[in-house]
Amino acid sequence: MAMSADFIWKNGELVRWEDATVHVLSHALHYGTSVFEGLRAYEIGEDACVLCGPEHFERMIFSCKVAYAPSPYTVEQWMDATADTLQANRHRSAYLRPLVFRGHGPSLALDGREGPIDAILASVPWGAYYSAEAQEQGIDIQVGSWRRTGSGATAAMAKIGGQYVNSQFNLMQAHDSGFAEAVALDTQGFVSEGSGQNIFIVHDGVLITPTIANSILGGITRYCIMTIARDLGIEVREQNIPREMLYLADEVFFSGTAVEICPVRSVDRIVVGEGSIGPVTKALKDEFFGILHGTRPDKRSWLTPVHVSMPAEERQTA
Ligand SMILES: Cc1ncc(COP(=O)(O)O)c(C=O)c1O
Repeated sequence: MAMSADFIWKNGELVRWEDATVHVLSHALHYGTSVFEGLRAYEIGEDACVLCGPEHFERMIFSCKVAYAPSPYTVEQWMDATADTLQANRHRSAYLRPLVFRGHGPSLALDGREGPIDAILASVPWGAYYSAEAQEQGIDIQVGSWRRTGSGATAAMAKIGGQYVNSQFNLMQAHDSGFAEAVALDTQGFVSEGSGQNIFIVHDGVLITPTIANSILGGITRYCIMTIARDLGIEVREQNIPREMLYLADEVFFSGTAVEICPVRSVDRIVVGEGSIGPVTKALKDEFFGILHGTRPDKRSWLTPVHVSMPAEERQTA
């Protein structure tokens, strides 16, 4: 699917895709001073249903605060921008990318606070991150050789652009070694997270995931999964996970807006469990996708519907 759309929302208005440009001396381009989010909208009937929109924008506003670049917009304004962009692009199913960044200021000083704060929101068509086979059978991953930066070095809980260089190192290394992904360890050697996703393991029927103190982004999908698991009567634990627990786990899976829920069938070429999706992962996945596709009740109002009319439908009713 081509990454393209008709419009991008920029600093409060919709501009044409090709006009959404930045100056080459923008602070963010040089120093990584950007904050972003990734959201998905799922098509249900004639609506684009945005998953956990307010939660994503609350996290974005928090990340902006940590980055000394206050968000120019409130959660409500970001939600309005989301609806406007989906409608303008006629997207019912889309990946949404809001971004706040330091633009082109009076100098290239590292403390860029004299410069402007710019904001954009894009919607692009984007299907499943992994193939249908990978989603069913699981992916092969390795433990990356680059550690996550420790607490007090960068701010793992905030989704700040520059921090993703660390994720890219591990991901590119994994790809070059023939793996689909890498999981990073934190500075103490405990399991942290993937390049852009959280990790869960299942051991003796208990669902276990690293704590927020293991240099992870507090994933919104992670929160949904823990909530669904508790609803299904599955015990959930947040704890330090030693690397070797990845090898003795019965099941391992990744969670995130982009990857959704993706089983892992091997870590460092050591087969996990039966080497395919396990029963707990499957139960969580069925419930999660059931909510997103409108076949199971959205008990906690995680979806915000945005009505998106299509040209063909407009013609039919005219
Ligand atoms: C580093 C990192 N960890 C975890 C996640 C998963 O977070 P979420 O479920 O909110 O998409 C993401 C994606 O935003 C991420 O970039």
